[in-house]
Amino acid sequence: MKKSSLISITAIAAAAVLGLSGCAADTAAPAGSTRACVILPDADSGTRWEPGDRPALEKALTDAGYEADIQNAQSDTAKFATIADQQLSKGCGVMILVDYQGAGASVVEKAKAQGIPVIAYDRPIAGADYYVSFDNEVVGQMQGQMIVDGLAAAKKDIKTASIIYSSGDPADGNAAMFLKGALSVLDAAGAKAAFTMEGTWDGAKAGTLFEQAFTAVKGKVDAVLAPNDNNAASIIAILDKNGLTVPVSGQDASVAGLQNVLLGKQWATVYKPFTIEAKAASDLAIALLKGEKPAANKTLEDGTPFIALDPISTTADKVKDVVAAGDATVEALCTKDVAAACAKYGVK
Ligand code: BGC
Repeated sequence: MKKSSLISITAIAAAAVLGLSGCAADTAAPAGSTRACVILPDADSGTRWEPGDRPALEKALTDAGYEADIQNAQSDTAKFATIADQQLSKGCGVMILVDYQGAGASVVEKAKAQGIPVIAYDRPIAGADYYVSFDNEVVGQMQGQMIVDGLAAAKKDIKTASIIYSSGDPADGNAAMFLKGALSVLDAAGAKAAFTMEGTWDGAKAGTLFEQAFTAVKGKVDAVLAPNDNNAASIIAILDKNGLTVPVSGQDASVAGLQNVLLGKQWATVYKPFTIEAKAASDLAIALLKGEKPAANKTLEDGTPFIALDPISTTADKVKDVVAAGDATVEALCTKDVAAACAKYGVK
């Protein structure tokens, strides 16, 4: 199909969604308005952006009548800027950006100079019109609670336990919110860090940093606060190598994370359904295109309206709920080593 006809079809679809008259020129959507320009941050810091968010956003946006132009900055701030320039020159009705190490802020400025609304998706970006994400502080509180519950189950006193604290990339505004939430629970429980690792979203780097932490605490580890499943997996590999099984936190309900939860190597994960986040962003995009200013249930410290969604803490007995929701499959989870745990926790 020729591009021009594709655009006119999506324009008609968008007009239908918005209840606009298809023939009155002054009510027709402005040029480019049916294109949603999306930039994802990387393909490897987690298992979510390409396999999870991309199809969820694609579906939510096309269902809403948008043409979805979804690109990935591949962990490169310069590439982030180049993609944005290309998208803006083709025309965007809305931009939905997942920040990568601060690259989003200058794109927001450019988009706003052209009157294009920007939704910061999952990660906060200064100057964005809205922020759509799961409630990151609550995610962090759930992670802190995983350590509290895991140590209690192991009958270890949290006040004297040797806990390694780790966090996400400090250049991602989310990382600080996760940590703030986690510390609120851990501090209240009287926990203290035996060692604090440098923050990163690079799983391999998290492994190297954990090796160093492990040496620094002379191998005495009772629990590890890990910011996501990807980092947790690298940390668990080192714990495994040293014959240790201790409570580790995580998030994303990734295949590896859910498997580690089922195997008892990770206390729980935080499930943040991509479909819900993508739908919230696409609903918001439609409202903005109509010129509406939808109410947000939270506000970030810099004043950005925040549409905060509810995350779900997921222990082994709840993994089946992720499968039932269609966000994980038995085939992917219940591989040979995990089959017995799947049977035990009713994942079928
Ligand atoms: C997201 C997490 C993800 C991490 C690494 C964060 O901003 O909220 O879900 O695991 O980035 O990509």
